[in-house]
Amino acid sequence: MDIRAMAASIQPELVAIRRHFHQHPELSMEEVNTANYIVEQLQQLGIDVERKVKTGVVGTLKGKKDGPVVALRADIDALPIKEETGLSFASVNDGIMHACGHDAHTTCLLGAAKILSQIQDEIPGTVKFVFQPGEEQAIGAKLLIEEGVLEGVDAIFGMHVDWTAPAGTVSVDPGPRMASADMFTIHVEGKGGHGSAPHQGVDAAVVAAAIMMNLQTIVSREIDPLESAVISIGKLVSGDRFNILPARAYMEGTCRCFNPAIRENIPDSISRVIENTAATFRATAKLHYQFGCPSTINDEALTALAQNSIKRLYGDEALTTKPPEMGSEDFAFYAEKIPATYAYLGIANSAVGACYPEHHARYTIDESALQVGAATYAQFAVDFLTEKS
Ligand code: NI
Repeated sequence: MDIRAMAASIQPELVAIRRHFHQHPELSMEEVNTANYIVEQLQQLGIDVERKVKTGVVGTLKGKKDGPVVALRADIDALPIKEETGLSFASVNDGIMHACGHDAHTTCLLGAAKILSQIQDEIPGTVKFVFQPGEEQAIGAKLLIEEGVLEGVDAIFGMHVDWTAPAGTVSVDPGPRMASADMFTIHVEGKGGHGSAPHQGVDAAVVAAAIMMNLQTIVSREIDPLESAVISIGKLVSGDRFNILPARAYMEGTCRCFNPAIRENIPDSISRVIENTAATFRATAKLHYQFGCPSTINDEALTALAQNSIKRLYGDEALTTKPPEMGSEDFAFYAEKIPATYAYLGIANSAVGACYPEHHARYTIDESALQVGAATYAQFAVDFLTEKS
């Protein structure tokens, strides 16, 4: 089977499908028409289809022989961004845009479904096509897992477009790829009063300022310098008027890191720093910490297998490498449960305007990457099932 040639032969269809999705983007967990379209496409290929969590779609393709089960995942949602690409197939849904390339992911996975359905008899196992809603809010993967999407699945492969890599290349690297992303709030309680008499009250704004500075010492003084972590306060609210001593302050922040052991300790560190800093100033501070997405960690063996799939398809020069990022991705929830690997599909080409970062109002892709993405999904599935069966 020549998956590269099969992908090339459906390239015009892939372009049409991607433009359809691009023109009709839908927000997280509202991907109703997108899901319907995916269902129709899969049914045309004779693939068994199940709907999950309202707008999720899972297709199952059984090969002739029994064998392992591999899942291929694409996220399908768009962003609340007003598109400024000026493309002929720009979004018709005002204020909503596929600015993170999930239109491309969905298209590539449909392409893989088409390729694999054509060689169904040669597949030594089962392929599950997971079309996941709600990635931008980091909720879709969790919901699909709760509905049993990983039951009986031996490994999962996912992919994201990458504006920093030229179209025609793919990278997949072992180990941590994206950071965990948690959210926290801090409530500071002081004592109000007149701005002219700070000694009669407890200025919560000054406490908040000290907390904000002291929090930075967790990363710089408590965590191994060879590890990575970020603690950022993105919101600080305090006070009402120029001559009123603020009685309260409120902060919101985020924590990012790769190492789960470090992540686990961060809430305790934050609590200690904020409570004791507040006590220094006769105030109190309370932390509410919410664990969000774990870090995305690529399984070593599975990643090596994926690297070989890419080289088999397009040669050594197509396989690139990419440093880890502090951004996050809810694919991490799958990777927490079963062996997983996450690749990046190069889509950059300034000649076609594909030179803006993901989430930019002018974001677009070099569509020649669609066949590469479809082939990569399909080849990985075949290679994994062949090796494990
Ligand atoms: Ni994305």
